[in-house]
Amino acid sequence: MERMRTHIGIVGAGPSGLLLSHLLHLQGIESIVIENRSREYCENRIRAGVLEHGTAELLVECGVGERMKREGLVHEGIYLRYRRQDHHIHFPELTGGKSIMVYSQHELVRDLIAARLRDGGQIVFDVDAVALHGLESNSPRISFQKDGKPFEIACDFIAGCDGFHGISRPSIPAGVLRTYEESYPFGWLGILAQVAPSSTELVYSNHDRGFALLSMRSPEVSRLYLQCDPEEDLNEWPDDRIWSELRQRLSTEGGWKLKEGPITQKGVTGMRSFLVDPMQFGRLYLLGDAAHIVPPTGAKGLNLAVADVRVFSAALDAFYKKGSRDLLARYSKICLQRVWKVQRFSWWMTSMLHKSNQGEFFEQIHLAELDYVTSSRAAATALAENYVGLPFEPL
Ligand code: FAD
Ligand code: PHB
Repeated sequence: MERMRTHIGIVGAGPSGLLLSHLLHLQGIESIVIENRSREYCENRIRAGVLEHGTAELLVECGVGERMKREGLVHEGIYLRYRRQDHHIHFPELTGGKSIMVYSQHELVRDLIAARLRDGGQIVFDVDAVALHGLESNSPRISFQKDGKPFEIACDFIAGCDGFHGISRPSIPAGVLRTYEESYPFGWLGILAQVAPSSTELVYSNHDRGFALLSMRSPEVSRLYLQCDPEEDLNEWPDDRIWSELRQRLSTEGGWKLKEGPITQKGVTGMRSFLVDPMQFGRLYLLGDAAHIVPPTGAKGLNLAVADVRVFSAALDAFYKKGSRDLLARYSKICLQRVWKVQRFSWWMTSMLHKSNQGEFFEQIHLAELDYVTSSRAAATALAENYVGLPFEPL
């Protein structure tokens, strides 16, 4: 068995694990990241696309925002489309000048991997049989295999950044965590298409046939989603059917036209709201999707992961520089305050925009909600300030 030693053992090379490792490096704290997929897989996994104002600022401040500033698309608002009409929510006007950044998660992952490797960081890809030990001791350990050989990392703390299906959360003994969960009777069928986006800004459309979202990845690539059954069989969705459904759900009275092109990727994602409290056990701390999942309608998952990393890296800085455990002790409480607000926003956007099986009464309530949001400055401000991102918690 090969033994290694570091300050922080990080499980998972998604946005949370990689950004944590980068911020710790800037603070002079060592870490090793282990990841059960290949580098290529991580760098090409299509996920989120919207960065909050504060997320984009944080990435620039910590030196990994150069390419995002060059290639990312700054958006000043979104369209809410319902009753076949567009209503624009202008973020800077409602939030004192804030906007959002459209930049693919996998591009951010590429930037973070490149920054870690440039700075001599250690990321071990393609590991398996990952297990956590001694979580209640002062020196927890991570064991894993790489190319069939056993390894062990001894560290001061373990960061569980391994997403919803990872092993960190299930390594916590039963009865410690309280779980809150809500699932939805629908999912999203998402596509990437090689065609210029048909709108300058994202379009969230509430329609009798179900919700549709028009998003983008670049001036040449569109990202579109359709509300579907969570168990939807992709084989029943040839490209023509997808475009036909998108055309109907996104149609407007004004005769707006959807640009169509070759579909390069298709997938179905389920929707759930999930969190655990506390986000910690002994010396294991959970970050990002390992601790919480939100339905994607608020574009928040990646942003919440970044917010957790901000708190945890500051807590470790205080621990190593001043010997203070105060922030570490408050980690979960500080993060969960934000997580619950984001859960509320994501649930609210999801309910308002999707066709539910609750019946006609709720369909009318959702339209009334949309009428209210698009006619009251107070209600529009509530949407805008959540969408661009609530202020980070003071630390
Ligand atoms: P992950 O990205 O899941 O990373 C976890 C990593 O751990 C992975 O690399 C995984 O391979 C690895 N891992 C898992 N198990 C192990 C193990 N046992 N050992 C080692 N490594 C392991 N969020 C937004 O903010 N805006 C959006 O617009 C948005 N859109 C989305 C659209 C879709 C279709 C989906 C699916 C998600 C979307 N999200 C969005 C959510 C966002 O992608 C996630 O919240 C984000 O990836 C969380 O980052 P993470 O690092 O915590 O977890
Ligand atoms: C995306 O571009 O993938 C995206 C945008 C907004 C959302 C969810 C996903 O709310």
